[in-house]
Amino acid sequence: MKNVLIISSSPRKKGNSQILCEQFKKGAEAKGHQVELVRIMEQNIGFCRACDGCMRNGGTCVLKDDMAEILKMFQKADVLVLATPVYFYGISAQMKTFIDRTYPIWQHLGKKEIYYIISAGLGEDIIERSLGDLNGFVEHLEEYKIAGKIYAANVMDAGLVENQSVFKKAYDMGYSIRL
Ligand SMILES: Cc1cc2nc3c(=O)[nH]c(=O)nc-3n(C[C@H](O)[C@H](O)[C@H](O)COP(=O)(O)O)c2cc1C
Repeated sequence: MKNVLIISSSPRKKGNSQILCEQFKKGAEAKGHQVELVRIMEQNIGFCRACDGCMRNGGTCVLKDDMAEILKMFQKADVLVLATPVYFYGISAQMKTFIDRTYPIWQHLGKKEIYYIISAGLGEDIIERSLGDLNGFVEHLEEYKIAGKIYAANVMDAGLVENQSVFKKAYDMGYSIRL
């Protein structure tokens, strides 16, 4: 059994990437994994202040908010799913905020199997263009393998993804994680 952490960063509760996260979770749970799905929008997480307090005190953020609990889940996770809509050729502000707040442990991000779930109103070429920030974060892990990517292209309205093949693919990808 693996610990799977899904970071879902769409502000839309019934957004396309969120729906795919839920499918991925169902598949992973059906296989027998332990899964946590965190919707950043529902957490109280402030912006990194760049005060470097965490660098001086051994890795504790000066902000007292929900990120401390999420970092514990992050450290426990064997598998990390990063899910974001494409906004202006990039990731959501919620995902960027999450990434920046891992700064207290950036030298100890550990070893993880990584999956991406990305939704966009336009085509797959747009999605490829938006991967820079996710890759830039993942490359800071001590060891990682990008094990799967789900691109939901051409889904401007929330929920459209339910009619696409990626809907089943998300479940199957969750189920495919090895015990
Ligand atoms: C602020 C904003 C910026 C967006 N920028 C892009 C973009 O650059 N390219 C694109 O293909 N779609 C863009 N979209 C459309 C979203 O990517 C699309 O609606 C997607 O399905 C949202 O994912 P979600 O349903 O998981 O929230 C944008 C939407 C918003 C609200």
